[in-house]
Amino acid sequence: MDVEAIVKKMTLEEKASAVEGKLFWFTQEYPELGIPSVQVSDGPHGLRKMYGQGLTITSVCFPAACATACSFDTELMENMGHTLGRECQAEDVAVILGPAVNIKRSPLCGRNFEYVSEDPYVAGKMSAALIRGVQAENVGTSIKHFAANNQEFERMYGSSEVDERTLREIYFPAFEIAVKEAQPWTVMCSYNRINGTYSSENPWLLNDVLRKDWGFDGLVMSDWGAVSDRIAGIAAGLDLDMPGSQGVNNESIVKAVQEGRLSEEALDTAVLNILKMVDKYVSHRSAAEIPAFDLAADSAQAADVARECIVLLKNEDKVLPLAKEEKVALIGGFAEKPRYQGGGSSHIESFKVVSALSVAQRYGAFSFNRGFSEKEDIYEKDLQQEALAAAAEADKIVVFAGLPDLFESEGYDREHMQLPACQNRLIADLVKTGKPVIVVLHNGSPVEMPWADDVAGIVEAYLGGDGVGEAVMDVLYGRVNPSGRLAESFPMKLSDNPSYLNFPGTGHKVNYAEGVFVGYRYYDTKQMPVRFPFGYGLSYTDFRYANLRVSRDSFTAAEGVTVSVDVTNIGDRAGKEVVQLYVSDKTGSTIRPVHELKGFCKLALEPGETKTATFTLDKRAFAWYDVEQGDWYAANGTYVIEVGRSSRQIEYTAEVHIIGSKEKPPVITPDVQVGELLKSPFTREFTQERLKKYTDVFKGLGNETDEMVEAVVRFMPLRALRSFLGVSNEEVDAICEELKAHIAEQMK
Ligand code: BGC
Repeated sequence: MDVEAIVKKMTLEEKASAVEGKLFWFTQEYPELGIPSVQVSDGPHGLRKMYGQGLTITSVCFPAACATACSFDTELMENMGHTLGRECQAEDVAVILGPAVNIKRSPLCGRNFEYVSEDPYVAGKMSAALIRGVQAENVGTSIKHFAANNQEFERMYGSSEVDERTLREIYFPAFEIAVKEAQPWTVMCSYNRINGTYSSENPWLLNDVLRKDWGFDGLVMSDWGAVSDRIAGIAAGLDLDMPGSQGVNNESIVKAVQEGRLSEEALDTAVLNILKMVDKYVSHRSAAEIPAFDLAADSAQAADVARECIVLLKNEDKVLPLAKEEKVALIGGFAEKPRYQGGGSSHIESFKVVSALSVAQRYGAFSFNRGFSEKEDIYEKDLQQEALAAAAEADKIVVFAGLPDLFESEGYDREHMQLPACQNRLIADLVKTGKPVIVVLHNGSPVEMPWADDVAGIVEAYLGGDGVGEAVMDVLYGRVNPSGRLAESFPMKLSDNPSYLNFPGTGHKVNYAEGVFVGYRYYDTKQMPVRFPFGYGLSYTDFRYANLRVSRDSFTAAEGVTVSVDVTNIGDRAGKEVVQLYVSDKTGSTIRPVHELKGFCKLALEPGETKTATFTLDKRAFAWYDVEQGDWYAANGTYVIEVGRSSRQIEYTAEVHIIGSKEKPPVITPDVQVGELLKSPFTREFTQERLKKYTDVFKGLGNETDEMVEAVVRFMPLRALRSFLGVSNEEVDAICEELKAHIAEQMK
């Protein structure tokens, strides 16, 4: 299609009608112009293609993002993307609606199961990989929900009140990384408002940040029903209104253009972006070459993905792996009916769900008792008594615990972070038997674990998709060596979470008062105990780190640095280690978290094998977002590179230095504080000399040394010289002018 020529041919009315969806999942068609309609479908962890009256095709449910994030394996994500893309081709779906990359600000967000991480770097890298895979099959993605959609409470109206630095450092980078590294065909804007403006009509968000700053050249669509003012939306860069207004907006768009309230160019751009997407899809499609959707093969792949995601959180006295000969009591409704996906728009009509119970006889001797219902929190005495009786006969007890569907879903948030009380009670009673208890968790977001110190093993399965039961049994019995690592912190209790005092907000606003201190950035900076830290997870083998090296000790931000470390599998079985790199800023140039993840890499190691993890760090690995400059800033000075197994288990550190960054001169007005002038290399010497005759006056008032004088005048604005020392207005102004000239001279 010559899309530009087509747009020129379209009437104003046609263009007004083209910028909204049709029949919930389709774009508009104009056969006489050669424009077909294409379908979009949810996503993100399987294909939820709808047809007819609310019917959904049968497909494969891959593990949800809460689980896949724990694989820390970008190749795995890319492969999963390829399969999703092929499924879309088979079903004639042009765009799959995902990945969903909103940051897990609070463990209570009902949709956390669909989101990747509390860390923007992990969310960005894992999502970029998925996008690359899908789009390699000539199917588009829609990275969502842009932006600051971190709770379900009032999700369609509430305003996320977030300062710009926090947006740029925490809530944007997952989108930014994906846009820059994988060019998603489309971006889905979020429902919520940001600082009072709906994302669907926010020109700063959609045009300035997304398009100008990051170079996005695809299509922006609304979340379903996110459009409030369609005219403002078109002007702001929202191309496609989904599912649309059923024609209601068409006339007002036409009128707005005719009356000069909306530029026709803006409307043309929206239409053009839609047509480009349609063309990208249809022009690469040849139905003859498209293989059918192989449910069985894709389902097997979903189980393989699940095997890479499970996180072993506790393994006291090597209680795991279980041995074939051991008599194991399997307890809990989730063993029979695993919770393998979350509720809402991502819900898949699964082809086949494998429960742990259905495959248990392949692994060893076992008994099974429900113990509790997987659906609700009701203490059922008979069920619990039977479970306790069976446990008394067993060598080891495995409890399949988790959150019932009702506890977390798209559309509403959780009210607390606890498991159903009936489950906690049964686990406590099982511990009293004195037998080793292993808890397997099926949940989309962290739970409090009052029994964590008492049980012998904890296995986090999250919402593991169709093959979760088999994957869990493989891990329990050691057919698979667990290699997942937590992509989020597990706080001890809900009130430890940094958003606790402000979640979910009031007066239709939620204040992101914790700023950049989200997840481990907060817990680690505050040195708080956590149940399980970010990046944590055990293996059945062990690894040794050695030989941390940096390519240079001092470098400019533009040069960056390469870091490598050798990792050896020192156990007796093959395993995988997730090597993590954090950067800690010691320059004191602003308030920052104690460290931030800037690299990760997963190594597969045979027993005795050594491999090298290599990381390339550029300016962004060291920089913070300076709102005053409107840019990323890596101050000159010392940074510590930390390499380790989790945010709390750093194996080696190396000190490096950034040099040559352009320092910011202080802004000179009579309000500038003497301390700012003394701190800046631009003004330090000049200030010391020029103000000496005044500052010396402070000597002798108990401030004997130069250091003491400097400390006293540090927070004194220049203008205060008037009040304390009778310096004239003219002299203060003259000092300001001299300082400005002195700075200008050095900036030349
Ligand atoms: C969700 C989106 C989803 C869309 C279409 C919305 O309610 O927020 O994530 O893609 O519905 O189902």
